[in-house]
Amino acid sequence: MKAVTVDDGGLTVTEVPIPRPGPREALVQVRASAINGADHYLRVGRYPDTSSGGGPLIPGLEVAGVVAEVGPGTELEPGTRVMGLTPWGGHAEYVAVDERLLLPVPEQWRWTEAGAFCEAFTAAHDALVTQGGAREGSRVLITGANGGVGTAALQIARTTGCAVSALVRDPAVAEHVRRLGADEVHLHPDDLSPDRFDVVLELVTGANITKQIAALRTGGRIVVLGCAAHPRADFNLLKLMAKRASIGGSTLRSRPVEEKAQALALAYRAVEHAARDGSVTIPVDAIFELADAPQAYERFEMKGKTGRVVLVTSSA
Ligand SMILES: NC(=O)c1ccc[n+]([C@@H]2O[C@H](COP(=O)([O-])OP(=O)(O)OC[C@H]3O[C@@H](n4cnc5c(N)ncnc54)[C@H](OP(=O)(O)O)[C@@H]3O)[C@@H](O)[C@H]2O)c1
Repeated sequence: MKAVTVDDGGLTVTEVPIPRPGPREALVQVRASAINGADHYLRVGRYPDTSSGGGPLIPGLEVAGVVAEVGPGTELEPGTRVMGLTPWGGHAEYVAVDERLLLPVPEQWRWTEAGAFCEAFTAAHDALVTQGGAREGSRVLITGANGGVGTAALQIARTTGCAVSALVRDPAVAEHVRRLGADEVHLHPDDLSPDRFDVVLELVTGANITKQIAALRTGGRIVVLGCAAHPRADFNLLKLMAKRASIGGSTLRSRPVEEKAQALALAYRAVEHAARDGSVTIPVDAIFELADAPQAYERFEMKGKTGRVVLVTSSA
């Protein structure tokens, strides 16, 4: 099969063996698979604790496709349209996936949407709702709101009944994030009003932490899901104490299968109805053939995206 492989910081589209599905696994013939930040860090050698078991290093943490074959004890039927979370390996024509991490694809969804749902929506829902405690009536701030996780978080927050503020740096994406659910859009952290937010979902940097603590209501919470722009934070603990506030961090990929399956199911349940009636969408910024993966990764690293960058296979 064809797969995108990582080799010395570069990407190659090459022939590798089709994986065999193990117990409780389904072999998925991939139609679409979105790029995530972790794929980029894997490529540049910045993802910790990654072992390919001696095999090729294939990025790709989420896919949509058709079950081609099943392993022992797997209940899914061949031919089922599925989307799910993969333990890397999604940027390929086939990937073996634990069936607990697969969901049926809603009938009206395109492959490109289904292949861009699971990682971004699960990470966003888990951080914002499960860990951040956002609920109906909460006022939330989402940073990096025009990216893949940000656009998922905006819609989850709106569907949950939160008042939603977005922080982006590019005025050109402001209208886009408004359409997806932001009641107000800020272009600079200095513009945040004090004592305003119950939950801040941080997707970008630790550099704004003092301004965000000031912008929290008493008892508010900051949940950090991404900090690639600047992972360090320097702040006065007294300000955190005075607000009785808390700061938490989260990662989805490294969790046990059962925990990831539960987070995936909760995220899907939260938006299922709205996704069926079209009020929640999976914004796709750009679509590339698997063979054009290097160009797709270049697009992923560019500023001003409006959603996901998705790779499709020739069977899509
Ligand atoms: N912990 C987890 O389990 C988990 C899961 C998924 C994602 N993540 C992480 O979450 C983060 C967001 O992921 P994503 O898929 O949404 O990425 P994305 O689609 O590339 O979006 C990145 C967002 O961050 C903004 N941004 C990047 N650098 C910035 C800077 N220096 N200053 C201000 N804004 C900046 C971008 O704005 P511009 O468009 O203006 O560049 C965009 O809004 C990544 O770090 C990713 O690794 C973590």
